[in-house]
Amino acid sequence: MTRCTKKRWQPRPVAEALQPVIVVPGPEAMAETAARWIADTIKASVAARARCFLALAGGETPRACYRVLGGPGFRNDVPWSAVEIYWSDERLVPLDDPASNYAMARAALLDHVPIPARQIHPAPVEQPDGALAAEAYARELGALPRDTSDRPRFDLILLGLGEDGHTASLFPGDPVLLEERAWVRAVRASKPPPDRLTLTLPLINASRAVLFLVQGAAKRSALQAVRRRDPRVPASLVQPVDGELRFIVDREALVEDPATV
Ligand code: 6PG
Repeated sequence: MTRCTKKRWQPRPVAEALQPVIVVPGPEAMAETAARWIADTIKASVAARARCFLALAGGETPRACYRVLGGPGFRNDVPWSAVEIYWSDERLVPLDDPASNYAMARAALLDHVPIPARQIHPAPVEQPDGALAAEAYARELGALPRDTSDRPRFDLILLGLGEDGHTASLFPGDPVLLEERAWVRAVRASKPPPDRLTLTLPLINASRAVLFLVQGAAKRSALQAVRRRDPRVPASLVQPVDGELRFIVDREALVEDPATV
């Protein structure tokens, strides 16, 4: 009987200006690779500091990764009792609304792992005044350890990338991109639903690690703009001051001809 010689696919970094990028063949590998990277980062944070402060990304891309992270392969591998969950941004809709980033993470991950309810910190979407909601969420971030500029310091912030280069709810041309002091701001976004809260760039760039998940041909030009560090693209402005920046991208998002990678 011939042994199966098919080599198990291994993620590999791409020697690019976007170092370090992990390129995966498609959605399934994206979910697995991202879940493994997130789990390893959580475990390293807990081993070093007894806690992991994690901000989840919204949108559609992370859903499959959250499902894997909440599945049998990881559920007992991650020290969930030491993890504190927040969101990189949130839509100001009810927490049970299908458009809610909280609702998506609950269904895909949080309802399937043994994380204490008091350690899940949804944005105060019930507050009708966006500015007051932003202030209230910023107060919740006050529980995090601080960096040398006295900013709350996440262990890991997950981010997606919009086709226009937005990330979290930081959209091109929005004055919030110039925010230097506030940790959370209310914004009116071009992507529905419009009313949102977002972590600001100073807060994101204070993180010990930031992981972008980028999938699909529609993100190609935005990703190329990030690779060029085009300042008009909000995601280009995510440059952790003293932290790791990593991208997990699928081949569709990276090149014109996926077969060449
Ligand atoms: C949101 C997200 C947003 C998202 C990008 C990519 O609340 O919509 O935070 O920044 O990550 O728009 O979204 P997809 O993953 O759905 O392409």
